[in-house]
Amino acid sequence: MAEVTLGLDLGTSGVKVVALGADGGTLAQALRPYPLLTPQPGWTEQRPEDWVAATLEALREVAGVLLAAGHVPLSLGLSGQMHGAVFLDGHGGPLRPAPLWNDQRTAGAVAEIERAVPRTDLIARTGNRAVTGFQLPKLVWLRQAEPDVFAQTRQVLLPKDYLGFVLTGQMYTEPSDASGVGALNLGSNRWDEEVLGALNLSSRLFPEVVRSWDITGQLTAWAAQHTGLPQGLPVVAGGGDNAAAGIALGLTAARPELGSVSLGTSGVLFAPLPSPTPDPEGRVHLFAHADGGYLLLGVTLACAGALQWLRDKLAPDTSFETLLAEAAEVPSGADGVTFLPYLAGERSPWMNPELRASWTGMTLAHGRGHLTRALLEGTALALSDTFEVMKPLAGVKSFLATGGGARSDLWLGLVAGALASDVRRSLHQPGAAEGAAILAMPAAGMYTTLQEAMAALQSQSRSIQALDTTQAKQQHLEALKQHRLPLLGRDS
Ligand code: XUL
Repeated sequence: MAEVTLGLDLGTSGVKVVALGADGGTLAQALRPYPLLTPQPGWTEQRPEDWVAATLEALREVAGVLLAAGHVPLSLGLSGQMHGAVFLDGHGGPLRPAPLWNDQRTAGAVAEIERAVPRTDLIARTGNRAVTGFQLPKLVWLRQAEPDVFAQTRQVLLPKDYLGFVLTGQMYTEPSDASGVGALNLGSNRWDEEVLGALNLSSRLFPEVVRSWDITGQLTAWAAQHTGLPQGLPVVAGGGDNAAAGIALGLTAARPELGSVSLGTSGVLFAPLPSPTPDPEGRVHLFAHADGGYLLLGVTLACAGALQWLRDKLAPDTSFETLLAEAAEVPSGADGVTFLPYLAGERSPWMNPELRASWTGMTLAHGRGHLTRALLEGTALALSDTFEVMKPLAGVKSFLATGGGARSDLWLGLVAGALASDVRRSLHQPGAAEGAAILAMPAAGMYTTLQEAMAALQSQSRSIQALDTTQAKQQHLEALKQHRLPLLGRDS
């Protein structure tokens, strides 16, 4: 019998709930999928009602396991996909499906924001330029494209904060997710009235910002009845999925030399920062971290998603293991084949949704292994382009690797080579749900502070052998030149 906290990660493919003991051990977990809607090219949406149904089921499954074993849930922390917009009417009802973080419909809204607030000013205030995926452009899009829905909108919530509202009846957010809206002043952690004023939007549309480890409400009788969890269970604000995963990996502004690299659908470089210092051109994101500090996040949109695309479109009957084994047989530089991975446009460092992917340098002598090898090298080098922008701002020297792609020694070795840094695989691969459970530990009284919990729950890691990427890098820089992309000071 143990005291546990629950953590929830409202992901893009499904929701994950975990129950952690005070030693960080997992005592129960559940996953529930929900559909991704793509009603028009470039649009990605989910129905908030699907999130709620899946979450109640996943919580019910975990509650059943815990109660049968006599374990006592003490609090629930939230995390989830960032940037999505849940538009609510005056009764808290969702007015339409929620556009997501990877939705690309907002090019016009981004231009409108840039006309209203000069880019340098927006970056200095919020840490970021206007980015297609962020929440603020979605609201500006709604006003123009669906004025009737906009007129009924009384509140806009981020995905995990909407779940918090459904579970407790209270609307709150916290800095790590709120800083992904595009309108949070990073100096004050409050909604920037001048940015919103320049766009004729009221800050009353957004919820109050509390600290990530604060209690935002208690589980209602309704939510208790639908989950089997105790009524009154404290719910903790939590963090955006990247920040929460960072908490689980022990990434903190108090130790800026340790960051992470995630080889998921997208590739993500994470560097903790003690103060909010943005890239002056906004080529990487600056967000608040859930530990009270800040973080730089470089997001390359196609990473393991690019390998998945290659498999699905070109080799549907082949396993990832076979593709990776074929790539391992091909020498560094893929015998001259080069892949630029901009299958979904690119965020960091180019911030250009119009960029497109390419393989170049092919001859009759090349085969599938070369295409895969070039894809692995190209995604690793895309991360290194982002790292070039982060390096002058961050103290990061070592990266903990996460995400599905990090299971491959070859891919991770290429990433270590491309970043010319220590890349480590942690023995456990905790994610955002675990981070949310850790964020809920101070409220449960398990640890006095978040820092104490993170220090106690650090997992072991080991370094990955870096692979030589010299040849691949030369080809990559040549391909950037051909696309008229800057070499970021690497032209010599
Ligand atoms: C971060 C981002 C993604 C989502 C995915 O800026 O867009 O990592 O949070 O869940």
